[in-house]
Amino acid sequence: MKAFCRDTWVEVDLDAIGKNVQTFRRHIPAKTGIMAVVKADGYGHGAVQVGREALRCGADSLAVAMLDEAVLLRKAGITAPVLVLGYTPVDCVEQAVQWNIELTAYHSEWVEQATRLLLDKCPNARPIGIHIKTDTGMGRLGVRSTEELLAIVERLERSPMLQWTGIFTHFACADEADTTHVVQQHQQFQSYLQALQDAGKTLPKVHCCNTAASIAFPQWGYDTIRLGIGLYGLYPSSYMRERADVPLVPALSLKTRIAHVKTAKEPFTVSYGATYTAQPEEQIATLPIGYADGFSRLLSNRGFALHGGERAAIVGRVCMDQIMVRIGSGSAQVGDEVVLYGKQGDEEISLDEVAERIGTINYEIPCMLNYRIPRVYLRGRQVVEVFHPLTMKSEM
Ligand SMILES: Cc1ncc(COP(=O)(O)O)c(C=O)c1O
Repeated sequence: MKAFCRDTWVEVDLDAIGKNVQTFRRHIPAKTGIMAVVKADGYGHGAVQVGREALRCGADSLAVAMLDEAVLLRKAGITAPVLVLGYTPVDCVEQAVQWNIELTAYHSEWVEQATRLLLDKCPNARPIGIHIKTDTGMGRLGVRSTEELLAIVERLERSPMLQWTGIFTHFACADEADTTHVVQQHQQFQSYLQALQDAGKTLPKVHCCNTAASIAFPQWGYDTIRLGIGLYGLYPSSYMRERADVPLVPALSLKTRIAHVKTAKEPFTVSYGATYTAQPEEQIATLPIGYADGFSRLLSNRGFALHGGERAAIVGRVCMDQIMVRIGSGSAQVGDEVVLYGKQGDEEISLDEVAERIGTINYEIPCMLNYRIPRVYLRGRQVVEVFHPLTMKSEM
Protein backbone atom coordinates (compact mmCIF):
# COMPACT_ATOMS: atom_id res chain seq x y z
CA MET A 1 0.00 0.00 0.00
CA LYS A 2 1.20 3.53 -0.77
CA ALA A 3 2.13 5.67 2.24
CA PHE A 4 -0.11 8.42 0.87
CA CYS A 5 -2.89 8.70 -1.65
CA ARG A 6 -2.84 12.33 -2.69
CA ASP A 7 -0.74 14.09 -5.28
CA THR A 8 0.58 16.83 -3.00
CA TRP A 9 3.62 16.41 -0.82
CA VAL A 10 6.49 18.19 0.92
CA GLU A 11 10.05 17.18 0.14
CA VAL A 12 12.71 17.72 2.77
CA ASP A 13 16.32 17.49 1.65
CA LEU A 14 18.16 16.00 4.63
CA ASP A 15 21.50 16.81 2.98
CA ALA A 16 20.57 20.50 3.19
CA ILE A 17 19.84 20.15 6.92
CA GLY A 18 23.23 18.49 7.41
CA LYS A 19 25.05 21.13 5.37
CA ASN A 20 23.43 23.96 7.32
CA VAL A 21 24.48 22.40 10.64
CA GLN A 22 28.04 22.02 9.34
CA THR A 23 28.07 25.61 8.07
CA PHE A 24 27.18 26.89 11.54
CA ARG A 25 29.67 24.46 13.08
CA ARG A 26 32.42 26.20 11.08
CA HIS A 27 31.06 29.69 11.82
CA ILE A 28 30.87 29.46 15.63
CA PRO A 29 33.69 28.81 18.13
CA ALA A 30 34.82 25.18 18.41
CA LYS A 31 33.86 25.00 22.10
CA THR A 32 30.25 26.07 21.38
CA GLY A 33 27.66 23.35 20.91
CA ILE A 34 24.63 23.37 18.62
CA MET A 35 21.10 22.95 20.00
CA ALA A 36 18.84 22.29 17.03
CA VAL A 37 15.47 23.96 17.50
CA VAL A 38 12.81 21.57 16.18
CA LYS A 39 9.70 23.05 17.73
CA ALA A 40 6.49 23.29 15.67
CA ASP A 41 7.30 19.95 14.08
CA GLY A 42 10.69 21.20 12.98
CA TYR A 43 9.22 24.42 11.53
CA GLY A 44 6.94 22.15 9.48
CA HIS A 45 9.80 20.00 8.16
CA GLY A 46 9.32 17.12 10.64
CA ALA A 47 10.82 17.33 14.13
CA VAL A 48 11.95 13.72 14.39
CA GLN A 49 13.61 13.49 10.99
CA VAL A 50 15.25 16.92 11.19
CA GLY A 51 16.29 16.32 14.80
CA ARG A 52 17.93 13.01 13.94
CA GLU A 53 19.74 14.51 10.95
CA ALA A 54 20.93 17.54 12.90
CA LEU A 55 22.30 15.29 15.66
CA ARG A 56 24.00 13.07 13.06
CA CYS A 57 25.68 16.09 11.48
CA GLY A 58 27.03 17.92 14.52
CA ALA A 59 24.22 19.19 16.77
CA ASP A 60 24.42 17.84 20.33
CA SER A 61 21.00 18.68 21.74
CA LEU A 62 17.48 19.60 20.66
CA ALA A 63 14.97 22.22 21.77
CA VAL A 64 11.21 22.44 21.44
CA ALA A 65 8.53 24.84 22.65
CA MET A 66 6.46 22.49 24.79
CA LEU A 67 6.67 19.24 26.68
CA ASP A 68 4.38 17.28 24.32
CA GLU A 69 6.80 18.03 21.47
CA ALA A 70 9.70 16.79 23.59
CA VAL A 71 7.92 13.53 24.50
CA LEU A 72 7.30 12.91 20.79
CA LEU A 73 11.06 13.02 20.18
CA ARG A 74 11.69 10.57 23.02
CA LYS A 75 8.97 8.22 21.76
CA ALA A 76 10.74 8.24 18.39
CA GLY A 77 13.86 6.97 20.15
CA ILE A 78 15.90 10.19 20.33
CA THR A 79 18.09 10.05 23.43
CA ALA A 80 20.05 13.34 23.11
CA PRO A 81 19.32 16.14 25.62
CA VAL A 82 16.01 17.89 24.86
CA LEU A 83 15.09 21.27 26.34
CA VAL A 84 11.58 22.72 26.50
CA LEU A 85 12.00 26.45 25.84
CA GLY A 86 8.52 27.53 26.84
CA TYR A 87 6.25 27.29 29.86
CA THR A 88 5.44 23.90 31.36
CA PRO A 89 2.37 23.63 33.62
CA VAL A 90 3.54 22.44 37.04
CA ASP A 91 1.21 19.45 37.00
CA CYS A 92 3.04 18.08 33.91
CA VAL A 93 6.55 17.98 35.39
CA GLU A 94 6.26 14.30 36.23
CA GLN A 95 6.23 13.57 32.49
CA ALA A 96 9.46 15.51 32.10
CA VAL A 97 10.99 13.27 34.78
CA GLN A 98 9.64 10.14 33.13
CA TRP A 99 11.13 11.08 29.76
CA ASN A 100 14.28 12.81 31.04
CA ILE A 101 13.52 16.19 29.48
CA GLU A 102 15.00 19.50 30.59
CA LEU A 103 12.59 22.33 31.37
CA THR A 104 12.71 26.10 31.45
CA ALA A 105 11.91 27.97 34.68
CA TYR A 106 11.75 31.64 35.53
CA HIS A 107 9.79 31.79 38.77
CA SER A 108 10.73 30.57 42.28
CA GLU A 109 7.14 29.67 43.05
CA TRP A 110 7.07 27.30 40.05
CA VAL A 111 10.29 25.67 41.31
CA GLU A 112 8.75 25.31 44.76
CA GLN A 113 5.53 23.74 43.46
CA ALA A 114 7.30 21.45 40.98
CA THR A 115 9.64 20.22 43.72
CA ARG A 116 6.75 19.48 46.08
CA LEU A 117 4.80 17.67 43.39
CA LEU A 118 7.76 15.50 42.40
CA LEU A 119 8.62 14.70 46.01
CA ASP A 120 5.05 13.58 46.41
CA LYS A 121 4.73 11.57 43.17
CA CYS A 122 8.19 10.18 42.44
CA PRO A 123 10.60 10.93 45.33
CA ASN A 124 13.16 8.40 44.11
CA ALA A 125 13.36 9.69 40.53
CA ARG A 126 16.52 11.22 39.11
CA PRO A 127 16.36 15.06 39.20
CA ILE A 128 15.58 16.79 35.92
CA GLY A 129 17.61 19.63 34.46
CA ILE A 130 16.26 23.17 34.62
CA HIS A 131 17.43 26.09 32.48
CA ILE A 132 16.63 29.49 33.93
CA LYS A 133 15.32 31.97 31.42
CA THR A 134 16.24 35.61 31.83
CA ASP A 135 14.26 38.36 30.12
CA THR A 136 16.80 40.88 28.91
CA GLY A 137 14.53 42.75 26.52
CA MET A 138 12.14 40.37 24.77
CA GLY A 139 9.34 41.00 27.27
CA ARG A 140 8.02 37.47 26.93
CA LEU A 141 9.26 34.96 29.55
CA GLY A 142 12.06 35.23 32.05
CA VAL A 143 13.33 36.69 35.30
CA ARG A 144 13.69 40.44 35.10
CA SER A 145 16.00 41.29 38.00
CA THR A 146 19.11 40.02 39.78
CA GLU A 147 17.02 39.48 42.93
CA GLU A 148 14.56 37.24 41.08
CA LEU A 149 17.47 35.39 39.48
CA LEU A 150 19.28 34.73 42.74
CA ALA A 151 16.04 33.70 44.42
CA ILE A 152 15.29 31.07 41.80
CA VAL A 153 18.87 29.78 41.77
CA GLU A 154 18.84 29.39 45.53
CA ARG A 155 15.48 27.66 45.41
CA LEU A 156 16.81 25.28 42.75
CA GLU A 157 19.91 24.54 44.83
CA ARG A 158 17.66 23.38 47.67
CA SER A 159 15.51 21.18 45.43
CA PRO A 160 16.33 17.46 45.50
CA MET A 161 14.19 16.95 42.36
CA LEU A 162 15.37 19.76 40.07
CA GLN A 163 18.92 20.45 39.05
CA TRP A 164 20.10 23.82 37.73
CA THR A 165 21.69 22.96 34.37
CA GLY A 166 21.35 26.07 32.24
CA ILE A 167 20.79 29.81 31.95
CA PHE A 168 19.69 31.64 28.83
CA THR A 169 18.05 34.62 27.20
CA HIS A 170 16.40 35.27 23.85
CA PHE A 171 17.06 38.24 21.57
CA ALA A 172 14.30 40.33 20.03
CA CYS A 173 16.22 42.20 17.32
CA ALA A 174 19.33 40.16 16.48
CA ASP A 175 18.33 40.04 12.79
CA GLU A 176 18.49 43.82 12.30
CA ALA A 177 21.27 46.01 10.91
CA ASP A 178 20.93 48.32 13.91
CA THR A 179 22.57 46.40 16.74
CA THR A 180 21.62 48.76 19.58
CA HIS A 181 18.91 46.57 21.08
CA VAL A 182 20.73 43.25 20.79
CA VAL A 183 23.91 44.72 22.28
CA GLN A 184 21.89 46.10 25.21
CA GLN A 185 20.25 42.71 25.72
CA HIS A 186 23.61 40.98 25.67
CA GLN A 187 25.01 43.47 28.20
CA GLN A 188 22.06 42.78 30.49
CA PHE A 189 22.64 39.04 30.09
CA GLN A 190 26.32 39.48 30.92
CA SER A 191 25.41 41.46 34.03
CA TYR A 192 23.18 38.56 35.17
CA LEU A 193 26.05 36.12 34.63
CA GLN A 194 28.38 38.43 36.55
CA ALA A 195 25.90 38.72 39.43
CA LEU A 196 25.76 34.94 39.66
CA GLN A 197 29.54 34.68 39.70
CA ASP A 198 29.77 37.46 42.30
CA ALA A 199 27.36 35.43 44.44
CA GLY A 200 29.79 32.50 44.20
CA LYS A 201 27.69 30.41 41.80
CA THR A 202 29.25 28.14 39.21
CA LEU A 203 27.63 28.84 35.89
CA PRO A 204 25.86 25.93 34.22
CA LYS A 205 25.28 25.77 30.44
CA VAL A 206 25.01 29.35 29.11
CA HIS A 207 23.25 30.21 25.84
CA CYS A 208 21.72 33.22 24.12
CA CYS A 209 22.16 33.00 20.34
CA ASN A 210 19.34 32.21 17.93
CA THR A 211 20.18 31.94 14.22
CA ALA A 212 20.52 35.69 13.72
CA ALA A 213 22.82 36.22 16.70
CA SER A 214 24.84 33.14 15.75
CA ILE A 215 25.46 34.72 12.33
CA ALA A 216 26.15 38.25 13.55
CA PHE A 217 27.80 37.56 16.93
CA PRO A 218 29.34 34.07 16.87
CA GLN A 219 31.61 35.22 19.71
CA TRP A 220 28.51 35.20 21.96
CA GLY A 221 28.07 31.47 21.45
CA TYR A 222 28.96 30.53 25.08
CA ASP A 223 28.17 26.82 25.59
CA THR A 224 25.65 26.40 22.80
CA ILE A 225 23.71 28.25 20.14
CA ARG A 226 20.00 27.60 19.63
CA LEU A 227 19.78 27.12 15.90
CA GLY A 228 16.27 27.39 14.46
CA ILE A 229 15.48 28.94 11.10
CA GLY A 230 19.06 28.61 9.81
CA LEU A 231 18.91 24.86 10.27
CA TYR A 232 16.21 24.80 7.61
CA GLY A 233 18.29 26.91 5.22
CA LEU A 234 16.33 30.11 5.71
CA TYR A 235 17.54 33.50 6.92
CA PRO A 236 15.88 35.27 9.85
CA SER A 237 15.47 38.50 7.83
CA SER A 238 16.33 40.03 4.46
CA TYR A 239 19.18 41.92 6.15
CA MET A 240 20.66 38.61 7.31
CA ARG A 241 20.26 37.11 3.83
CA GLU A 242 21.99 40.05 2.22
CA ARG A 243 24.98 39.90 4.59
CA ALA A 244 25.86 36.68 2.74
CA ASP A 245 28.47 35.60 5.30
CA VAL A 246 26.79 32.26 6.07
CA PRO A 247 25.63 30.38 2.95
CA LEU A 248 22.52 28.32 3.67
CA VAL A 249 20.66 25.70 1.64
CA PRO A 250 16.83 25.64 1.88
CA ALA A 251 15.61 22.16 2.74
CA LEU A 252 11.89 22.27 1.92
CA SER A 253 9.96 22.07 -1.35
CA LEU A 254 6.20 21.81 -1.78
CA LYS A 255 5.04 19.86 -4.80
CA THR A 256 1.83 18.70 -6.38
CA ARG A 257 0.48 17.22 -9.63
CA ILE A 258 -2.15 18.62 -11.95
CA ALA A 259 -5.58 17.10 -11.29
CA HIS A 260 -7.48 18.71 -14.19
CA VAL A 261 -6.74 20.90 -17.24
CA LYS A 262 -9.00 22.96 -19.48
CA THR A 263 -8.39 25.43 -22.27
CA ALA A 264 -10.88 28.29 -22.54
CA LYS A 265 -12.87 28.34 -25.76
CA GLU A 266 -14.79 31.33 -24.46
CA PRO A 267 -14.34 33.38 -21.28
CA PHE A 268 -15.16 31.60 -18.00
CA THR A 269 -14.80 32.61 -14.41
CA VAL A 270 -12.57 30.78 -11.94
CA SER A 271 -13.24 29.87 -8.28
CA TYR A 272 -15.35 31.41 -5.52
CA GLY A 273 -16.38 34.98 -6.02
CA ALA A 274 -15.58 34.72 -9.76
CA THR A 275 -12.65 37.08 -9.23
CA TYR A 276 -10.78 35.91 -12.34
CA THR A 277 -12.02 35.39 -15.90
CA ALA A 278 -10.06 33.06 -18.14
CA GLN A 279 -9.80 34.34 -21.71
CA PRO A 280 -10.01 32.22 -24.90
CA GLU A 281 -6.93 30.04 -25.41
CA GLU A 282 -5.84 30.36 -21.77
CA GLN A 283 -5.05 27.03 -20.17
CA ILE A 284 -6.21 26.63 -16.57
CA ALA A 285 -4.92 23.77 -14.44
CA THR A 286 -6.44 22.67 -11.13
CA LEU A 287 -4.05 21.63 -8.36
CA PRO A 288 -5.03 19.53 -5.32
CA ILE A 289 -3.91 21.87 -2.52
CA GLY A 290 -5.76 24.56 -0.61
CA TYR A 291 -5.89 26.65 2.53
CA ALA A 292 -6.88 23.61 4.61
CA ASP A 293 -3.36 22.29 3.91
CA GLY A 294 -1.79 25.53 5.13
CA PHE A 295 -1.46 27.09 1.68
CA SER A 296 -2.54 30.63 2.42
CA ARG A 297 -5.72 32.00 0.92
CA LEU A 298 -3.87 35.33 0.75
CA LEU A 299 -2.13 33.89 -2.34
CA SER A 300 -5.44 34.18 -4.26
CA ASN A 301 -4.72 35.98 -7.57
CA ARG A 302 -1.28 36.81 -6.13
CA GLY A 303 0.97 33.74 -5.95
CA PHE A 304 2.74 31.53 -8.47
CA ALA A 305 3.50 27.89 -9.12
CA LEU A 306 6.16 26.40 -11.41
CA HIS A 307 5.27 24.17 -14.34
CA GLY A 308 7.81 23.11 -16.95
CA GLY A 309 10.33 25.42 -15.28
CA GLU A 310 8.09 28.45 -15.87
CA ARG A 311 5.91 30.53 -13.60
CA ALA A 312 2.18 29.87 -13.65
CA ALA A 313 0.02 32.50 -11.92
CA ILE A 314 -2.51 31.43 -9.31
CA VAL A 315 -5.84 32.64 -10.69
CA GLY A 316 -9.02 33.06 -8.69
CA ARG A 317 -9.36 32.43 -5.00
CA VAL A 318 -7.51 29.68 -3.16
CA CYS A 319 -10.17 27.13 -2.13
CA MET A 320 -10.08 24.84 0.88
CA ASP A 321 -8.59 21.91 -1.07
CA GLN A 322 -7.78 23.24 -4.54
CA ILE A 323 -6.23 26.10 -6.47
CA MET A 324 -6.19 27.03 -10.15
CA VAL A 325 -3.17 28.23 -12.10
CA ARG A 326 -2.81 29.69 -15.59
CA ILE A 327 -0.31 27.73 -17.68
CA GLY A 328 1.33 30.19 -20.10
CA SER A 329 2.82 27.54 -22.39
CA GLY A 330 -0.52 25.79 -22.81
CA SER A 331 1.29 22.47 -22.51
CA ALA A 332 -0.08 21.22 -19.19
CA GLN A 333 -1.34 17.68 -18.78
CA VAL A 334 -3.03 15.89 -15.93
CA GLY A 335 -0.34 14.37 -13.71
CA ASP A 336 2.38 16.95 -14.52
CA GLU A 337 4.51 17.87 -11.52
CA VAL A 338 4.09 21.42 -10.25
CA VAL A 339 6.32 23.11 -7.68
CA LEU A 340 4.63 25.52 -5.29
CA TYR A 341 7.66 26.25 -3.08
CA GLY A 342 11.18 25.46 -4.21
CA LYS A 343 13.04 25.04 -7.50
CA GLN A 344 12.07 23.69 -10.90
CA GLY A 345 14.57 24.08 -13.73
CA ASP A 346 16.12 27.52 -13.42
CA GLU A 347 13.13 29.02 -11.64
CA GLU A 348 12.54 29.18 -7.91
CA ILE A 349 9.71 30.23 -5.63
CA SER A 350 11.44 30.80 -2.32
CA LEU A 351 9.68 30.82 1.03
CA ASP A 352 10.93 34.40 1.34
CA GLU A 353 9.03 35.35 -1.82
CA VAL A 354 5.84 33.66 -0.63
CA ALA A 355 6.14 35.34 2.79
CA GLU A 356 6.62 38.72 1.19
CA ARG A 357 3.59 38.26 -1.07
CA ILE A 358 1.30 37.64 1.88
CA GLY A 359 2.90 40.08 4.29
CA THR A 360 4.49 37.72 6.77
CA ILE A 361 7.89 36.18 7.60
CA ASN A 362 9.42 33.06 6.02
CA TYR A 363 9.15 31.21 9.39
CA GLU A 364 5.36 31.10 9.09
CA ILE A 365 5.20 29.57 5.60
CA PRO A 366 6.51 26.05 6.36
CA CYS A 367 4.93 26.10 9.85
CA MET A 368 1.53 26.47 8.21
CA LEU A 369 1.90 23.26 6.15
CA ASN A 370 -0.07 20.81 8.22
CA TYR A 371 -0.86 17.18 8.91
CA ARG A 372 -2.72 16.74 5.60
CA ILE A 373 0.52 16.89 3.63
CA PRO A 374 2.83 13.85 3.47
CA ARG A 375 6.55 14.51 4.05
CA VAL A 376 9.08 12.84 1.75
CA TYR A 377 12.68 12.78 3.02
CA LEU A 378 15.59 12.70 0.57
CA ARG A 379 19.26 11.96 0.99
CA GLY A 380 21.56 12.08 -2.05
CA ARG A 381 18.36 12.85 -4.04
CA GLN A 382 17.00 9.42 -3.10
CA VAL A 383 13.86 8.99 -1.01
CA VAL A 384 14.86 7.58 2.36
CA GLU A 385 11.59 7.97 4.25
CA VAL A 386 7.99 8.93 3.64
CA PHE A 387 5.84 10.02 6.56
CA HIS A 388 2.20 10.96 6.36
CA PRO A 389 1.07 12.77 9.53
CA LEU A 390 -2.59 12.21 8.62
CA THR A 391 -2.36 8.43 8.67
CA MET A 392 0.72 8.34 10.96
CA LYS A 393 2.19 5.91 8.45
CA SER A 394 5.90 5.87 7.77
CA GLU A 395 7.70 4.05 4.96
CA MET A 396 11.49 3.73 4.83
C1 LIG B 1 13.79 30.73 22.91
C2 LIG B 1 14.13 30.49 21.47
N1 LIG B 1 15.38 30.16 21.13
C3 LIG B 1 15.74 29.94 19.85
C4 LIG B 1 14.83 30.05 18.83
C5 LIG B 1 15.28 29.85 17.41
O1 LIG B 1 15.21 31.08 16.71
P1 LIG B 1 15.58 31.13 15.17
O2 LIG B 1 14.59 30.26 14.48
O3 LIG B 1 15.41 32.56 14.82
O4 LIG B 1 16.97 30.61 15.06
C6 LIG B 1 13.51 30.39 19.13
C7 LIG B 1 12.55 30.54 18.05
O5 LIG B 1 11.67 31.32 18.02
C8 LIG B 1 13.15 30.62 20.49
O6 LIG B 1 11.90 30.95 20.82
